[in-house]
Order: sequence, then structure tokens, then C-alpha cells
Amino acid sequence: MTDLPSTASSPQKKVHIETWGCQMNVADSEKMLSLLQGERYELTDSPESADLVVMNTCHIREKARHKVLSRLGVLNEIKQSKPGLKIAVTGCVAQADGKKLLELAPQIDVLLGPGKIDDLPRLLRESADTNRSMTSLGFDRHSEEKDGHEHAHGSNAASAPSITGKPEVSRYVNIIQGCNNFCTFCVVPFTRGREISRPLAEVLSEASDLVAKGAKEITLLGQNVNSYGLDLLNTDIVPDDGGPFVKLLVAVAAIPGLERLRFTTSNPHDFTMPLAGLFAAQPKLGRYIHLPVQAGNDRTLARMKRKVTVAEYLEKVQWLREQIPDVAISTDLIVGFPGETEEEFQGTLNLVEQCQFSFIFAFKYSPRKGTAAARFADQIDEKTMDERLARLNALQDRITTKLNQAEIGQVREVLFIYESAKEPGIFVGRTPHFRTVRVRSKINLIGKTSSVMISGANKVALVGDVLEQNLTIH
Ligand code: 5AD
Ligand code: SF4
Repeated sequence: MTDLPSTASSPQKKVHIETWGCQMNVADSEKMLSLLQGERYELTDSPESADLVVMNTCHIREKARHKVLSRLGVLNEIKQSKPGLKIAVTGCVAQADGKKLLELAPQIDVLLGPGKIDDLPRLLRESADTNRSMTSLGFDRHSEEKDGHEHAHGSNAASAPSITGKPEVSRYVNIIQGCNNFCTFCVVPFTRGREISRPLAEVLSEASDLVAKGAKEITLLGQNVNSYGLDLLNTDIVPDDGGPFVKLLVAVAAIPGLERLRFTTSNPHDFTMPLAGLFAAQPKLGRYIHLPVQAGNDRTLARMKRKVTVAEYLEKVQWLREQIPDVAISTDLIVGFPGETEEEFQGTLNLVEQCQFSFIFAFKYSPRKGTAAARFADQIDEKTMDERLARLNALQDRITTKLNQAEIGQVREVLFIYESAKEPGIFVGRTPHFRTVRVRSKINLIGKTSSVMISGANKVALVGDVLEQNLTIH
């Protein structure tokens, strides 16, 4: 007799997924949930009620890694009182620490790198059969080298369920895995491998499917989305017409029913004039971009191997402002990169002042094993880093508050994404400039785009009221 496929009456198992780190990990967790649903798992929000806990981990800074290790200790205690519980550690800590992690935490049943997501169901079965820890790490080479049409990352073109289990208005679609840049501080090329783009048709099919299921906003994801498709063309240089990424944006933007299209992360080095031009031509792109600069000093940028100077970065900001004069730009910044002098740090403060970013993600430099900068002389002491981070954040807080307060009195088109769990009746959405807006409403606003009169602002969010005419239409 052959095995029957699972049926509706098959017992359901429960999986609890914890996702750390970046949006790539959120998208990966959704893919894993999709695969696990095929194995009769359903989501649960507590590890205590789960048969399987998946920890999808982040390795970008040491702090992120530490959190993972202490969480593993807690899960181990749960497992002691519930021996049947399976623990899978996935993501970048799994890839970076590899089997060393199994020695440290033998309670792990499955260890899976971000390039091996498709192996999760097989490893779970093998671990159950053998009662041993199973591991799959590393990266597949390019998709043509795999059998059939299976892609290294996109296990299938169908859209994955949202990680909350609810239909969501704003969804992520992975377009490119890995990074070829090797910025000297960054562990990503080691934990996520080299760039592998998903074929355009596969991305389009997944995005269309998500829109058909109710998504209004799609964010295309990659460590460096601007180099999307260059691997498929066998080149390192983005063509003058903006290349495959611009073509992809045009194609995804054309999906009927999609209201907003975003992308992250955009590396300034590969940011082209045609991409800036698309912001004016395609209103679905909104008026916001995340463009990480990392530092405001040329010597630091060169030692980071960012391949842009401050002047080049400012030129790209200028391209965007020529297209959309009030464009909101956010950025990532690192303070205390090895050897950074006070004067060089001052360059970062100057750049922040000059660019008037809508918000920033500022980090203290964290040495990562295997990266070039971890071996640089003159590592900066913690106290200096703390002090620089505080000064940078204080400056940005003033700018964010000022820019947010300038919104008061404006009417903005807000796409509502969710209702506050802590304060029912408060709906949270975003303006085209990616500013968060909170509105009190008796009507469910989730998934609606409404005109909102902004009436208040602080550094975190705006508040406002939906204009009357919107309320009568629905
Ligand atoms: N130390 C501190 N911040 C880092 N980032 C990446 N690597 C490091 C590191 N070693 C930051 C960068 C990047 C963001 C995702 O994380 O600013 O853009
Ligand atoms: Fe890391 Fe640089 Fe690649 Fe971004 S571009 S993922 S910072 S190596």
C-alpha cells in the first residue's frame, strides 16, 4: 500500500515560530510556515503549546546573537518538561555558528541555514526517525544548476501565508538572496551567501497571488535589491537603463489592485538615475526610500568598502529630490567603526543635518568574526561608542520630531495596516512618506486607504482623523 497524502482528518501539529532580525527573516519564516503547513502543522503563539519551535535567528550584531543564545536556554527548560518538543534553529546564527551551536545547545533537533529552507520538512522527518540532530547549511549555486526548475530560495512561486496567520495588507516578497559586496563590517555575505535572484516571472506570480489574497502593499526584499537580476545577466554593473530591477518594479507595479510598492534595501552604490526617475513616473512607489549610507566621512566609507563617497551619496539624494521634492529618506548609520576619529564622526552628524533624514537606524559597530573590519586596529571603546550613538540619536530625534510636526495640518492618504492590539479602536497606517499614523475609528479601517487630516505628531508617529467623506463611502 502506498502512503496516502494527508487528509483533513489527519491530526494537526502545532508550530511556534520566533523571528529575529530583518524583514528577510520575516519572509523566510513565512516560507517555512508554508512548507510546514504542507506537513500538517498549524501556527500557535506559545512555545508551551507547540510540538515544534522554530527560532529564525539574526547574526548581524553580537547583541542579536546573544539574545538567541539566552532564548535557547529558555526553550531548553520548556523542552525538559515536554520531551517531545522539537527545536529548529534557522537563519544566520545557524549558518554562522554551524555545528558549534549544536555542541553548545544539544537540545537543537534541526539546524538550518537561510540558504536551505526547502530542507526543513525533510530534516524534521529525519530527526524524528533517528532521534538525532539534523543539519543543512551552506548555499546552493545558481538555480540552473539545481534539478528541474526549483530555485535556490523560492521553494515555489505560490505565496506564503503571513506569519501572524491573518491575511495581511502589507506583505514581503523576496527577490534576491545574499550579497556580493563584502562591506568590511558586514557578516551577511557569509551568512546569506552570494547574490541569487529569483526569476521575474516567479516574483510576479507570488506578488499577484498576494494581491489576490488581499495585500495592498508589497515590499520587495533583498540585501541589495538594486543588483537584482545582474547574476542572471552575468554582470556586476547595473545597465544605464536601470537594468532588471527597474524592469521588475515596472512589472510588479502594473499588478491591478496593488496600491503601494516598496523595496528594501537599496545600496547607494548601485542606485541609478532611472530608478530615481521611476519615483516620479510610478505613484505606487510613494515618496519614501531607505538608502543606507553608514557613515558621513570618505575615509571611513572607503575603509568600510562602501564604494561611494559622501559627495556621491549626496548626488543620489539630489536625483531623488529632483523627482520628488519632499521625498522622505531614511538611512542606516554605524558609529565607532574601527579607527573612527571624533572629527570623522562629526562628518556623520553633518550628513544627518544636511540630508534631513525622516528617520535613521543607528548602530554601534559590532565586530563580526570573519569580516575584515574585525581585524582592523583601533577598535573603538564602548564608552565612546555609547556617547556617539547618544549624540547621533539626539540629533535625529530633533529632526524627526520637526519633520513630523511639519505634517500637522496636511491631508495624507493613509493605508491602514493593522489595529492596535493594546488599544482597540486605534488603527495604524502609513502615509506615502512612510510616516506612521494612528487614527481612532469605530469603522474597521484595515486595508483601506483614506484621507487623513494630520492633527498631532511626536518623534514616533502622527495622529489624525479620517475625513468624513471617506467614512460614508465604505
Ligand atoms: N556592526 C554594527 N552595525 C552593523 N550593521 C551591519 N553590520 C554591522 C556591524 N557589524 C548595520 C548596518 C546595516 C544594518 C542592517 O545593520 O547599518 O545597514
Ligand atoms: Fe552587508 Fe554591505 Fe551587503 Fe549590505 S551591501 S548586506 S552592508 S555587505
